[in-house]
Amino acid sequence: MNKAKARQRLELLWRRGREFLGTEYAIMGGAMSWISERNLVAAISNGGGFGVLACGTMTPDRLAEEILATQALTTRPFGVNLITMHSDLEALIDVCGRLSVGHIVLAGGLPTSASIRRAKDLGARVMCFAPTVPFARKLVRTGIDALVIEGTEAGGHIGPVATSVLAQEILPQIPEVPVFVAGGIGRGEAMLSFLEMGASGCQLGTRFVCATECIAHPRFKQSFIKASARDAVPSIQVDPQFPVIPVRALANNATRRFIEFQHEVIARCRSGEISQKEAQLQIEHYWAGALRRAVIDGDTENGSLMAGQSVGMVSREQPTAEILQELVDQALDALDAREGPSLALVGQ
Ligand SMILES: Cc1cc2nc3c(=O)[nH]c(=O)nc-3n(C[C@H](O)[C@H](O)[C@H](O)COP(=O)(O)O)c2cc1C
Repeated sequence: MNKAKARQRLELLWRRGREFLGTEYAIMGGAMSWISERNLVAAISNGGGFGVLACGTMTPDRLAEEILATQALTTRPFGVNLITMHSDLEALIDVCGRLSVGHIVLAGGLPTSASIRRAKDLGARVMCFAPTVPFARKLVRTGIDALVIEGTEAGGHIGPVATSVLAQEILPQIPEVPVFVAGGIGRGEAMLSFLEMGASGCQLGTRFVCATECIAHPRFKQSFIKASARDAVPSIQVDPQFPVIPVRALANNATRRFIEFQHEVIARCRSGEISQKEAQLQIEHYWAGALRRAVIDGDTENGSLMAGQSVGMVSREQPTAEILQELVDQALDALDAREGPSLALVGQ
């Protein structure tokens, strides 16, 4: 396949995703709390991808400020990621509607049909994470416009199933809406393989952390550059009676201390000093503020270094546009190498 044909093929493979996002490339920069703010989001969108603002725990006014600031840096489409558990979810959706945000990603649990309806009535396209085929079907019935499937290789909060398995299970079953694949994607060849399996596009997070435009603390970025895939591990739960929501992060002092902390809290509960509910709350609150501590303050030992396994493919700081171009070129080169001279010779 020559370069022009490779381009045509890639164009065909991700056309649905590009049309849905309104972008040059069907590559989403997954929202990352504290990291996906105006600068990185605008840089991803300006580079031809689709940036997504992480709302996290922002208030509606703070979100409005961030959306306006992003709109000042790019005229291209970008989305906003809202956490469904946020106590002000409706007001946050309304802010997105008022400021003409084209795409809302509802994350952190399944959204209610009322939230989906509200976002759609305000003119936004709504995306959601689907952990299984039945949930994907339910979300499609509820009127969701596109899905993200995210495998356990991803950074941040994770499910138990690998991206490759989720893709095989879900992509052939959900033709109704565009599906974007996330988790463990570090190179264009992997992106291409998911497109060929039927994905409309991909979402990457870890790969964008060391973008030049990303405001993460230099020490946070250095931790990514130094790390290999096996350093990005899920948080450990020491007792099934005290469940821990798994988060993938680079092992550091905070992850080691978390294990000791759980043992201490559970012992205090078992001795009757605190209730089970109180113990569970303390365990959940352990990580409060920890991502900010690492990303913004640069405390890479006591903060949370959320990162996916693709961290091993992050080797230096690079401009966002260069990262995007590299991914596209890797996909094109892989296509271009097909039916090359060696295969042609085999046919002689
Ligand atoms: C540091 C970090 C923070 C993240 N924060 C969020 C978040 O606030 N909301 C969300 O939906 N996903 C979050 N994610 C997941 C990303 O949006 C994305 O889906 C994921 O990083 C893709 O997998 P990858 O890391 O293997 O590229 C986060 C990921 C990382 C690495």
